[in-house]
Amino acid sequence: MKELTGPKLSRRDAATLTLAAGVGALCASRSFAAASAALITKAIPSSGQRLPVIGIGTNAFSEAKHDELRPVLKRMVELGGSVIDTAPAYGESEQVIGELVAELGIRDRIFLATKLTAGAMAPAPVDTLQRSFERLKTDHLDLLQVHNLQGVEQLWPQLIEWQRARKIRYIGMTTSVASDHPRMIELMRKFPVDFVQVDYSIANRDAATSVFPAALERRIAVIANVPFGGRSGANLTQSQNRPLPPFAAEFGASDWPQLLLKYVVSHPAATCTIAGSTKVEHLEDNQAAARGVLPDAAGRRRLEQYWDAQA
Ligand SMILES: NC(=O)c1ccc[n+]([C@@H]2O[C@H](COP(=O)([O-])OP(=O)(O)OC[C@H]3O[C@@H](n4cnc5c(N)ncnc54)[C@H](OP(=O)(O)O)[C@@H]3O)[C@@H](O)[C@H]2O)c1
Repeated sequence: MKELTGPKLSRRDAATLTLAAGVGALCASRSFAAASAALITKAIPSSGQRLPVIGIGTNAFSEAKHDELRPVLKRMVELGGSVIDTAPAYGESEQVIGELVAELGIRDRIFLATKLTAGAMAPAPVDTLQRSFERLKTDHLDLLQVHNLQGVEQLWPQLIEWQRARKIRYIGMTTSVASDHPRMIELMRKFPVDFVQVDYSIANRDAATSVFPAALERRIAVIANVPFGGRSGANLTQSQNRPLPPFAAEFGASDWPQLLLKYVVSHPAATCTIAGSTKVEHLEDNQAAARGVLPDAAGRRRLEQYWDAQA
């Protein structure tokens, strides 16, 4: 992808964003202010390349939703987002993304991340990568991650070789369960890792005291996955019973999804998060969290206390 410079939204984009959010006139003017604010980006420690803090997770992308997903990816890049996370294990996800990215002509505007695994049952890594290239209709990946830490030791020399050959720019590994965090930290200390992808949200803070300190120490970028608690959106369901705290406005968050995303990416170790969204209104809502201000340490503590008190 091309280097990101943090473009401002056009007036038309911002107006569409607020209208699509379906809020009232007062809220719409507040959202317009938030949407007009500068895009928040963070640097990848190993290169200095900056990424917008809100990307998209695609484990629910399927061919059946092809036409509904086109405006999702289109709006994401229009609104300044770029990180797309997929995996061969996500059914038709890679294939649909490849088709849509080609149809929209946005390959040079996105940061494309996929995964692979090694093991007795897994196909040869070279075949898996070739299949990902074909499905994603590209000859290079921005990030290739070992999925769920399966075969890191075995795959790492191969990943380095592909990185040197410029087939992939960054290499990393993923998990989404806290029981994997100690092992992930061991591997982060053993190998030259550009990225880790790890579960982190207001309701699941283990990474903040395990993987994140190691990432800061080793200068490794962090993608926070399952920011809403996973496919079921468990954190959003819980938030339905809680009034939005008045201090959300200080961070420019006009609803719970925005507040929860701002919380995740405000951690100093978090480079970005990949909110799973298959609906354009969700995507637009989430992208609004990539603008304006983020909670500082005191703001984060206030939100944690508020969340815990309502549990
Ligand atoms: N081990 C791993 O490597 C691993 C494991 C798990 C996940 N991941 C990655 O992380 C990504 C994120 O995880 P996830 O998708 O499972 O869970 P998530 O991002 O925590 O939550 C996704 C859910 O939230 C809903 N949602 C999104 N934005 C919303 C909004 N503004 N308002 C209301 N609902 C909203 C989505 O609905 P709609 O679909 O209807 O928009 C979906 O049901 C995955 O897609 C995948 O790329 C990686």
